[in-house]
Amino acid sequence: MKVTSAEFIKSAFERSHWANDKRPEVAFLGRSNVGKSSLINSLLGRKGLARTSNTPGRTQSINFFLINDSFYFVDLPGYGYARVSKSMRSDWGKMAEEYLSERETLALCVQLVDARHEPTTLDKQLHEWLAFNRKPFIIAATKSDKLSSNQLRKSLATIENELPDSRVIAYSSVTGKGRDTLWEAINAAVSNFAK
Ligand code: GTP
Ligand code: MG
Repeated sequence: MKVTSAEFIKSAFERSHWANDKRPEVAFLGRSNVGKSSLINSLLGRKGLARTSNTPGRTQSINFFLINDSFYFVDLPGYGYARVSKSMRSDWGKMAEEYLSERETLALCVQLVDARHEPTTLDKQLHEWLAFNRKPFIIAATKSDKLSSNQLRKSLATIENELPDSRVIAYSSVTGKGRDTLWEAINAAVSNFAK
């Protein structure tokens, strides 16, 4: 995919702020600090477009990026960050769940998991929720640059086992590993969606 334009459109804190022009959307989900914003930047080849941080919980709104004037990337807030208040945590959950369950233009969910660790309980719950609700999804096992190829192989097998019936792509926002493969999947989802 040649990215000719990538533009931050808006941060939505409530449903009325969601984009409303019916273009297909690719949503990025995963726990806080797993690397969602970094992966978006790496796919787009734009360094600071989606804000990244060492502080978990950085992305607290639903952020819309318009790509090539034809579809959106949607950066969802991360889950599982313990150090925010309970009410804030449930606001995040509600916002993401509302988006995921009701969005008619959702062409693909990219669920990120950390290649270095077994999927967490919340990772598994999200995966089950996506499967149960028949959402189109793919798994990106990110930060794979931190593993040897042997470790990575084992890790991918564990992830495939823990998150059954998934396609898992090893990814690194640092080296660009998996970028072409993930773009192919995104491309297919977006162009099929338009039909
Ligand atoms: P929230 O917005 O808080 O939910 O986090 P996020 O999922 O958007 O994570 P973000 O992209 O901000 O990355 C978190 C940290 O992980 C940053 O310090 C990144 O530099 C680092 N990181 C992200 N992706 C990779 C990767 O592929 N490899 C390595 N080595 N580090 C990464
Ligand atoms: Mg983020």
